[in-house]
Amino acid sequence: MTTATRRSAPAPGPAAARTFPLGFTWGTATAAYQIEGAATEDGRTPSIWDTYSHTPGKVRNGDTGDVACNHYHRWREDVRIMADLGVSAYRFSLSWSRVQPTGRGPAVQKGLDFYRRLTDALLEKGIQPVVTLYHWDLPQDLEDAGGWPERVTADRFAEYATLAARALGDRVRTWTTLNEPWCSAFLGYASGVHAPGRTDPVAALRAAHHLNLAHGKAVQALRAELPATAQTSITLNLHHVRSLTDGAEDKEAARRIDALGNRIFTGPQLEGRYPEDLLQDTARLTDWSFVRDGDTAQIHQPLDFLGVNYYTPTLVSAATGEGSHGADGHGRSDHSPWPGADDVAFHLPPGDTTAMGWAVDPSGLYDLLLRLKADFPALPLMITENGAAFDDYVDPAGRVVDPDRIAYLRGHLTAVHRAIEAGVDVRGYFLWSLLDNFEWGYGYSKRFGAVYVDYPTGRRIPKASARWYADVARSGRLQA
Ligand code: NOJ
Repeated sequence: MTTATRRSAPAPGPAAARTFPLGFTWGTATAAYQIEGAATEDGRTPSIWDTYSHTPGKVRNGDTGDVACNHYHRWREDVRIMADLGVSAYRFSLSWSRVQPTGRGPAVQKGLDFYRRLTDALLEKGIQPVVTLYHWDLPQDLEDAGGWPERVTADRFAEYATLAARALGDRVRTWTTLNEPWCSAFLGYASGVHAPGRTDPVAALRAAHHLNLAHGKAVQALRAELPATAQTSITLNLHHVRSLTDGAEDKEAARRIDALGNRIFTGPQLEGRYPEDLLQDTARLTDWSFVRDGDTAQIHQPLDFLGVNYYTPTLVSAATGEGSHGADGHGRSDHSPWPGADDVAFHLPPGDTTAMGWAVDPSGLYDLLLRLKADFPALPLMITENGAAFDDYVDPAGRVVDPDRIAYLRGHLTAVHRAIEAGVDVRGYFLWSLLDNFEWGYGYSKRFGAVYVDYPTGRRIPKASARWYADVARSGRLQA
């Protein structure tokens, strides 16, 4: 039975069941380096994450993405699993160095063929492919040439976007340029807990600008190649920032983190300018002369929707000696990922936490969605990631029972539904993640999947949450 049929004649249900709008997209999400493996096959060359994960001491337990979930070889099975889940969309990323190994020149046929076969199989099952062009795995050669702090990387990205659009544009309509550019810039170049592991706050601000520019240029490239079909977007990890108290100093701390965590991207992308307060806050670090005339106009491109990734709120105060920048949930480092904000303290929000140590608080998602509607009323939204890591295990009966994940998903889907009721235009929801996978600096120690992966064998075991999510996705309904 299709979702549409069922929803046009809803069966009587408990009064508090929540029905999502007709046509709401239900999906799952992954990223290339986190699942593919096959790191040296078919012409793929190292990305910054290969280099970083192979550097001793960078990733927990010395884990790498060399094999990961072996999705490069097991993709047929993964597509079947998605079909069983009844999802209508799958968000995945292309490995840039599989498609265009050195980040320059022509595309590699075998790399493209992998993504062609994958998208064909998805379409056959009625699953819409949603392609992220960049989920953090810059070809190492481009990092060697300076990486995101250099302007030329944005030009390279636009060329790669053109290649991808030419190769896959007949199959893929929905495109996301960048995933969470905040992490690429600030975890990659300021705190160094992500690849390439640099710890230079000015390089991080330069990287943020060139990521913005790369986004704008890529949107133009996609629209030029696919004028009739491309639906374009970007995915941001917007921080829902709360101040610890109503005091002026704590509110000022929240404003600063909102500027560095959110408006540094939404400003140029959605309004065509960098926020004045951000430029002032960082003035003692840089004069922003790397922003050239015309850049913000290039960055400010019309989007079909904004992708929102949400996991937990961000709680800040003025620094008092308590709290630390490690408590912002982005990994511990001696270097802050927040350039020029050393006088801000981060606190663990109240409530239960996930295996990442992140507070479970769906009200942060609700508030964030309402704020986005207030700030950008005409912009449709898509939840491109939401989910949780817990310490899942296979029980003696061979099952993985994960009630905490179900509770997390239920709470956050309720928040999304309440936001829709309040008039926010949310078009869909992608559960992070389809599979347990390589969780960046945490390696394989954190399991976000709806499907358990037994890494020694590669075996997939759908968790209880997978069955639960399948019910929601098939019916379009959240039971009370
Ligand atoms: C956001 C990232 O896009 C994804 O790669 C990561 O695994 C999840 N958050 C969980 O940390």
